[in-house]
Amino acid sequence: MNVNINVDYSSTIPNNVGLSEDRRVLKALEVWHPGYLDWWQDMGPDGFQESLVYLRTAYSVDPRGWAKFDYVRMPEYRWGILLAPQEENRKVPFGEHYGEPAWQDVPGEHRAMLRRLVVIQGDTEPASVEQQRHLGKTAPSLYDMRNLFQVNVEEGRHLWAMVYLLQKYFGRDGREEADELLRRRSGSADAPRMLGAFNEATPDWLSFFMFTYFTDRDGKMQLHSLAQSGFDPLSRTCRFMLTEEAHHMFVGETGISRVVQRTCDAMKEAGISDPTDIAKVRPLGVIDLPTLQKKLNLHYTLSLDLFGSEVSTNAANAFNAGLKGRYRETQIEDDHQLKNDTYPVLKLVNGEIKRVDEPALTALNMRLRDDYTQDCVKGLLRWNKIITLAGYDYKLTLPNVAFHRAIGEFKTVHATPDGVLIDDAAWGKRKSDWLPSTEDGDFIASLMTPHYETGQFASWIAPPKVGIDNKPGDFEYVKIET
Ligand SMILES: [Fe+2]
Ligand SMILES: [Fe+2]
Repeated sequence: MNVNINVDYSSTIPNNVGLSEDRRVLKALEVWHPGYLDWWQDMGPDGFQESLVYLRTAYSVDPRGWAKFDYVRMPEYRWGILLAPQEENRKVPFGEHYGEPAWQDVPGEHRAMLRRLVVIQGDTEPASVEQQRHLGKTAPSLYDMRNLFQVNVEEGRHLWAMVYLLQKYFGRDGREEADELLRRRSGSADAPRMLGAFNEATPDWLSFFMFTYFTDRDGKMQLHSLAQSGFDPLSRTCRFMLTEEAHHMFVGETGISRVVQRTCDAMKEAGISDPTDIAKVRPLGVIDLPTLQKKLNLHYTLSLDLFGSEVSTNAANAFNAGLKGRYRETQIEDDHQLKNDTYPVLKLVNGEIKRVDEPALTALNMRLRDDYTQDCVKGLLRWNKIITLAGYDYKLTLPNVAFHRAIGEFKTVHATPDGVLIDDAAWGKRKSDWLPSTEDGDFIASLMTPHYETGQFASWIAPPKVGIDNKPGDFEYVKIET
């Protein structure tokens, strides 16, 4: 395959995969392209399609400099196909084909499984754009609006990345899957997106920040394990997607940091000593910390469900087949085949939550989820540091894995965020102490008013410490009137 670090921008579809010499795939993508643009107009950001947005566009896959920033109208964004450079002599890094040369073509015996992995990943990308399409109308600043749109156009590009693999390597059924990716809709009754969390609403900006922190981070973990794939084009595609994905989680982490900062500052100014005194905090026009914790509980647990069942033969099969590895597979020191290994899995045993050793192969989802949880903790440390520095005795925490689950070991039971099992009646009574209630939602909604003046920020969020592309916070990140 002809691959360059720099991207060919001369054709309608920027790419570094030599599309101009690959007539069949180029044609297939050109046929798909208008449907994609229709989808973007229908389901992409509501309003603002004519606004000039200060966006980064990938022009290279060189890690030292791969993006340029400029004003772009979103429908004119150059969505392209970018693969990380091919590693010479790359080998399948795990599973039954361990040590064999990585595949440049689809291994026939694993075709169906591979297609399914690509489709599931692909389905999440447009889903999040659909979930976030209303948020521009309540953006707390132009800076935040720009970040939202940046995430949106890049999720659009990630859809392109998966569609390229489908069109290039899976022939007719790949083409059909590519069309289906544009047909399903987040939250639709008859054609929903494939995974639960991607059919939930993202009703407000706090949800958006939680989503980009917790749910995009699930995406990061999935991309990392697919970046290990023995199917080299998938590996290279995911490696470049991870470069972009980092910004999405940055938006989430700093977004929540700024909310926490603003709440603490406002409480201090007002001389409030008890951060749980909601009746005093809310009138300040900031989001109280207990409500933040509830939103966190919701988004973290929805994201845990994305990892699937703790014990899964599908995960074992994908690993054995060399298609989906572990987080940082090549840095793990073992045989990369897991034939005789075990891994501790949290399970429900006689009404108690216990760790049980399971064959490591079937426990791969649990392992990836553990890696995910460790990664999530980092943000909590930062947010809690802000709270401590402000002099408040309050800690945001990750709820127990048995809390509020719809998939896996704990889907049939109720548990408190501390992991104490409770019955239906107790759950019904306490639920709104732990998850956002309608009233919480209404309160947050009441704060969601648009702030479109340059340098203006909503009452509930602090300005960023630094801007985007070394621009100041009061830079005109979106030119709404054009
Ligand atoms: Fe993505
Ligand atoms: Fe993302």
